[in-house]
Amino acid sequence: MQQAITGDEVRAVRWAEPGLAWGLVPTMGALHEGHLSLVRAARAANDRVGVSIFVNPTQFNNPEDLIKYPRNVEVDLALLREEGVDLVWLPRVEDVYPPGFQTTVSLAHVTQPLEGASRPGHFDGVATVVAKLFNVFQPMRAYFGQKDAQQVAMIQQMVRDLNFNLEIVVGPIVREVDGLAMSSRNVRLTPEQRAAAPVLYSALSSACAAWESGGRSPDDLRRVMTDALNAEPLARVDYISVADPVTLVELEDSAKRALLSMAVYFGEVRLIDNMVVE
Ligand code: PAJ
Repeated sequence: MQQAITGDEVRAVRWAEPGLAWGLVPTMGALHEGHLSLVRAARAANDRVGVSIFVNPTQFNNPEDLIKYPRNVEVDLALLREEGVDLVWLPRVEDVYPPGFQTTVSLAHVTQPLEGASRPGHFDGVATVVAKLFNVFQPMRAYFGQKDAQQVAMIQQMVRDLNFNLEIVVGPIVREVDGLAMSSRNVRLTPEQRAAAPVLYSALSSACAAWESGGRSPDDLRRVMTDALNAEPLARVDYISVADPVTLVELEDSAKRALLSMAVYFGEVRLIDNMVVE
């Protein structure tokens, strides 16, 4: 497994054998089974697999969250070696944002609601760094998790808008046995909060069950999720949403498909989760 620090080092490896198909898995490290599921999907479908580990400061609207973001590079590298990854990019902040950096990629609509509304500037940071990752690696395929549903919708929109020549592959949400979606932030939960956190999954599952039994009114689905979350005293709701899965616009009337999503605080830790129903 090769390691690179500068973009030029990545390119030297990437273009050593130009005919090969590369799959790229962008991450911020603190790797868990959610990340590794994407690495395995990339491993199965490409000649070479690249992983980036970069805690991207421009996508953290909350400075405290950036400071507290878990970092564990040695463990991450050992995990990636076991998965047969070919190249890991571990840039320093100045490799990604050298002095004088001044370009931002910003999407007009899909980034406005939900995570975008709660985390101003977050998606500009994600779009800009992901555009750079695509340009540095020039992969044939790039892998993202459905865990971050709005991030996926935004990246697919950006790829269409800017003619990036690659395929976006979306992996399903990987969960703990009790339903909690795996997240690098889960380690920051206290034992009591950790015990309460599967309420996101159970709220989504209840709404999903309501949908399956014909309850398609967005307001009813929102109410089912609100009731489930309000029953958990440690949970503080940031948003609950029933939206179009592509545009992220909140649904008023029943539709064929819907993205059920939520963001919930446990103390200072903010967790997100979602399910698509169709
Ligand atoms: P990070 O939070 O490290 O996540 C890296 C990738 O792993 C993302 O595509 C995310 O959706 C996916 N992922 C996280 N938890 C998952 C789970 N439980 N199941 C399935 N996939 C999961 O997302 C980012 O980093 C950053 O925004 C990034 C795209 C790297 C840009 O900085």
